[in-house]
Amino acid sequence: MANDLAIVDVAGVGLNATDTVIRLPHFPAFNSKTKVLSVERCAGGQVASAVVACRRWGLSARYVGSVGDDDAGQFQRRELDKEGVEAHWLVARGARSQFAFVLVDEPTGERTILWGRDPKLTIRPEHLDRRWVERARLLLVDGHDAPAAAQAARWARAAQIPVVADVDNLYSGVEGLLESADYVLASEEFPARLLGEADPLRALPMLARDFGCRLTAVTLGERGALAWDGARFHYAPAFLVDAVDTTGAGDIFHAGYIYGILAGWQTDRCLEFASAAAGLNCTRIGARGGISPVEEILRFAEAAHRRESAYEVGPRGHAAARKP
Ligand SMILES: Nc1ncnc2c1ncn2[C@@H]1O[C@H](COP(=O)(O)OP(=O)(O)O)[C@@H](O)[C@H]1O
Ligand SMILES: [Mg+2]
Repeated sequence: MANDLAIVDVAGVGLNATDTVIRLPHFPAFNSKTKVLSVERCAGGQVASAVVACRRWGLSARYVGSVGDDDAGQFQRRELDKEGVEAHWLVARGARSQFAFVLVDEPTGERTILWGRDPKLTIRPEHLDRRWVERARLLLVDGHDAPAAAQAARWARAAQIPVVADVDNLYSGVEGLLESADYVLASEEFPARLLGEADPLRALPMLARDFGCRLTAVTLGERGALAWDGARFHYAPAFLVDAVDTTGAGDIFHAGYIYGILAGWQTDRCLEFASAAAGLNCTRIGARGGISPVEEILRFAEAAHRRESAYEVGPRGHAAARKP
């Protein structure tokens, strides 16, 4: 590899997936038949989708991920090529690329995901080139291949590059990743899985203290996003949108937060932009279907209505859950 690898704004190491998005008039009952409204093949995957959003917003981006030598792998490669993302593919011979069947409930837009990942797709620390990480202004990782993500995060930290971690499940070795992550933006269920503490008001400070993170946050779907910065809570309600498909809301939320970090914004502004970007993404089908231009997201955040707040943050940064 050439020594003149460009410095990009965002480097992402982690998942891509090929989603078959199946829209249904209602979530199916056990042992029933349901006629589908539409079926579409969409590119998804946490890190790949977030990196694509950053690129659409004018940032330069690098992606490192794995695919099988199948048709879906070609599809993933074409999609990132088309977006102008610098991609480094680990191609697993004889493997099926990561896939998901996404059942979308038409009335609410909420998605239920059935997914699979061939073990041959595992990214290992020795697959990574240190320069992929070091030649970037920020690193995004997910927790699926935690040892590789942790390796990338340690390299980033050594080079003083901020690390954003998108964690949802307890993959083995995820603690090692958290130790080197600056911004941990987790799913709602993650703190209970890791710490046995489901209440984010207690879990977010615990997570920050135990792993030395600069910011810990959970996204709560329609109930918004709550963050702890080591001294105070921050909360952003979700925006009121006509949700068609919530697939990728979390991915685009992460992208929005990253955009804010790189723009030098304060926490509240990052959260608001991330929420608006994620909300708009829910108005179209697919994980990347509703990625909107920056100006549109800013206008939307200014003008749109918010859903009812799930938390109230006092003037000194204390937070309390609001009664539903
Ligand atoms: N139905 C919705 N309407 C408006 N915004 C939403 C909706 N679902 C998610 N969001 C926004 O996207 C963010 C991330 O969504 P969430 O559902 O928590 O992530 P995930 O995609 O991992 O399930 C939320 O914090 C919220 O701002
Ligand atoms: Mg969701």
